[in-house]
Formats: sequence, C-alpha cells, structure tokens
Amino acid sequence: MPSPPTYSATTVFSPTSEIDIAEAAAALRDGHLLAFPTETVYGLGANALTPSAVSAIFRAKGRPSDNPLIVHVSSLSDLTRWPLTPLPLSPAAARLAKAFWPGPLTLVLPLAARSPLAAAVTAGLRSVALRVPKHPVAAALLAKAAVPVAAPSANRSGRPSPTSAAHVIRDLDGAVFGVVDAGDLALDDANCGVESTVVDMTDPHNPSVLRPGAVSVRELERVSGVPFREVERGQAVERPKAPGMKYRHYAPVAPMTIVERTRMKERLEEERRKGKLVGVLANDAVCEQLREVSGVVTVNCGREGDVASFARELYGALRAFDGEGKGRMEKVAIILAVPPPDTGDGIGAAVMNRLVKASAGSVESIPESLKSSH
Ligand code: TXA
Ligand code: MG
Repeated sequence: MPSPPTYSATTVFSPTSEIDIAEAAAALRDGHLLAFPTETVYGLGANALTPSAVSAIFRAKGRPSDNPLIVHVSSLSDLTRWPLTPLPLSPAAARLAKAFWPGPLTLVLPLAARSPLAAAVTAGLRSVALRVPKHPVAAALLAKAAVPVAAPSANRSGRPSPTSAAHVIRDLDGAVFGVVDAGDLALDDANCGVESTVVDMTDPHNPSVLRPGAVSVRELERVSGVPFREVERGQAVERPKAPGMKYRHYAPVAPMTIVERTRMKERLEEERRKGKLVGVLANDAVCEQLREVSGVVTVNCGREGDVASFARELYGALRAFDGEGKGRMEKVAIILAVPPPDTGDGIGAAVMNRLVKASAGSVESIPESLKSSH
C-alpha cells in the first residue's frame, strides 16, 4: 500500500471566519483531506467525485477498503443535482429524509447507474449511504464546497471517534490537510456525540437499522410507516450488511469490561487485589462515590439521569484513558465501564452498542437480554 499523503502540519481553520470556510471548502473541492465537525462526530472529508481524494481517506485512517463511506450533501435537493441514487426516492425513504434531514440519520439507498462517485466510496456495493448533517459548520462547508463529500469519522481505524479537533489532530496530524475547529462537541447539547443511525432502505418494504444512533427505531417506524429490523440485534448476522460492523471499534488502549452499577465496587476490589490500577468510566454520581477510593482512576462521563450527556462525553472519556485530555493520567490496566440505565431505543441503545464494541464484547453482569440485544 502506498504511504499516506503527508503535510508538514495540519492547518486549523476557524469556523467563524468566512475566509477560512471558503479556503477549507476550496481545499476539499480540490482533493485535499479536510476534517470538519458534524452534530455526531468530526468527519474526515474528501471530494467524493475524486478517486485519489477518496483513496487518501482509506490510507490516512488505515481503513480496510471493503468498508464503504457515507456521502454527505448539503440538502435533499442535492440529490437532483448529482445522480447518486435513482429518483424519486421510495415513499418510505422520502418520508425519512424529509423528517430527519438535516440530522443524524444516514440512508443506505440504491446506487444510481450513472453515479459520478469514485468507486472506492461505495466499496463496490450497489448501494450508497447518504446523509445531510445538521451542524451549522458542516452545513456551511458543504454548501460552499458544492460537491458530495465522503466522510467517515476522523479517527484512525479502531480508535474512539473524535468529538474535538484535538482528537483529530492526535490521530491524524500531518495526514490531513486541515481541520475546521469548532471545539468540543460535548459542550453543546445540540450535538449527539455518537455517529448517525444508519438504515438500509435499499428494499423500502424491508428496511433495517444497521447501526443504532440518536434517531430511534420507534421514530423511524412512526415516520416511515414500515416496520424495521435491527440487524445488530440478530444473533447470526453472517455477512454484515454494514461492512463496518465486523471490525473492532471505538476502543481505548486498555482492555475494557462493562459492569453493572450494583456490582462495580465488588469488581473494583477484585481487580485491585490483583494489584491492578483500575480505571472507571461512569456518570458523575458513580464517580463521586469513588472519590475517596485509592488505586482507582475515574473518568466522568455524563450526568446521572441524562443519557444524552453520557453519549456526548463517551468518546472523549474513552480517549482520556489513553492520556488525551486535561492533566496527566496514569495508565490503567483495566477499565470498568458502568453503562447508563437501559433507556432502550435511540441514544441509549447507541451508547450501549458503542460500549460493547469498545469492550470487544466483554460484558459482565448485565441481563442476558441486554447482552444479546446489542
Ligand atoms: O455520524 C456519522 O455517520 C459520521 C459523521 C462523520 O457523519 N460518519 C461515520 O462514518 O460514522 P463511518 O465511515 O465511520 O461509518 C459509516 C458506516 C460504516 O459502518 C459503513 O460500513 C456503513 O456506514 N456504510 C457505508 N456505506 C454503506 C453501504 N452502501 N451499505 C451498508 N453500509 C454502509
Ligand atoms: Mg467510524
């Protein structure tokens, strides 16, 4: 594989400067890699019409080439500007696009026969994943770039997704031309902090959720009028529909285990008896209970009773265990993650899905029903 493109340093653009946005958009259009904020996570954007730009994404991330990318456009009407998917959309897909765009929903649709997209975007599939992000900086940038933009999360493959420009720089400095720095997404509750809900609408009568996100199955069914399957809930997905599902994801360096809140103190003692420095990732109330305990490094993730804040802070918290973030942190040997209470569909399911992936499936002492359902 050829070595990744390198820049002497990554240029930081200001989202409040029109000149910066124009320059960033021009770079994107011209085939450079540009990271930008969305309401979910920071994306690593490339002009989706330019094969060399798209292949640079795979090289910079170390992403397997069989994992296709989401194409970002600035509005639904862009689908009439480029033949990305056959029009009109199916009635169910049209209802979803109308209700949730701009927003954290990705629709996998049939690929148009005359699609101008670089072949690597869709990894040879006959479908294309489309999304219209809501974050105002993403919207401004896409409007200005005036090309469809392929953008996976702007992390190195396998690492937690980035929710700040600092996370992007940490993973991709020099491998990406620029980053538009809108700060820490976790600080604004208009953001989600976890990636978009991905739904497969290639067969509009038999749609499925390929990746849970903030848009819940219940909302999808209500708006589309069609029942959805949840692929990740199925026990035996033989050939994953979202190719990204088969890879280990979102993982900090230390091994992580998901532990029910009521068993956490007991598990903590067990690990400490083995002489291990233990990390705990949990909400503010749980962390507070451990303030006086020695041999434990706590990383606060969200507020008690507020699962959306847990979602927004999750990736930053995972990265904190790898020494990113404020102050120096000792390296822990194991992380015990206490999930928020099961709030079911939508953002709660998305959080659980990401925790299970970050722990490579190491789920202790939570109900069997939850283990098999995420
Ligand atoms: O919130 C998001 O969706 C973020 C921001 C940057 O927009 N993007 C993102 O992209 O999460 P990425 O590449 O990390 O995840 C894309 C997911 C992968 O699981 C991929 O396999 C799936 O979407 N996907 C893309 N195209 C597909 C297709 N044609 N069919 C099925 N799955 C597809
Ligand atoms: Mg990703």
